[in-house]
Amino acid sequence: MKSLIISITVSLIVLAAPSLAHAQDAAAGKKVFKRCVSCHTVEKDGRNKVGPNLWGIFGSTAAQRNVGYKYSRAMKASGIIWDEATLSSYLQNPRKAVPKTRMAFAGLKKAKQRDDVIAYLKSVTE
Ligand code: HEC
Repeated sequence: MKSLIISITVSLIVLAAPSLAHAQDAAAGKKVFKRCVSCHTVEKDGRNKVGPNLWGIFGSTAAQRNVGYKYSRAMKASGIIWDEATLSSYLQNPRKAVPKTRMAFAGLKKAKQRDDVIAYLKSVTE
């Protein structure tokens, strides 16, 4: 009986782990996002700053959300559809992913930081 309880407990912990990890990622990503807040808001109908508000970014085509922001020609022509992979590549090196983008940001070199900030964005922009 004791070993049954232990094995049930262990499997519950294993099952719970992915969602715990996800929550932590978003929390860590909130800290990473401090590097973005001078230029971006995330809430619905949030204002544009130097960069566009990011509500509804997942699944949207670059520069095509109706947020009243004046994008660069390069971003409008990019045709990128924002998902985890395209966001990660843009955030790693904006000017490499979209040459002549107006986003003046050096990039997040660490994959973990990109994963975390993307998890955070997902949790607040949809
Ligand atoms: C110095 C200001 C600045 C910083 C810092 C910055 N951005 Fe941007 N961001 C911009 C600008 C400006 C654009 C529009 C680019 C263009 O039109 O070429 C943009 C565009 C974007 C887009 C595309 C939006 C769309 O509607 O297609 C995403 C996504 C984005 N930024 C995410 C981030 C994240 C996440 C961070 C932090 C890791 C960040 N940005 C940091 C200024 C900034």
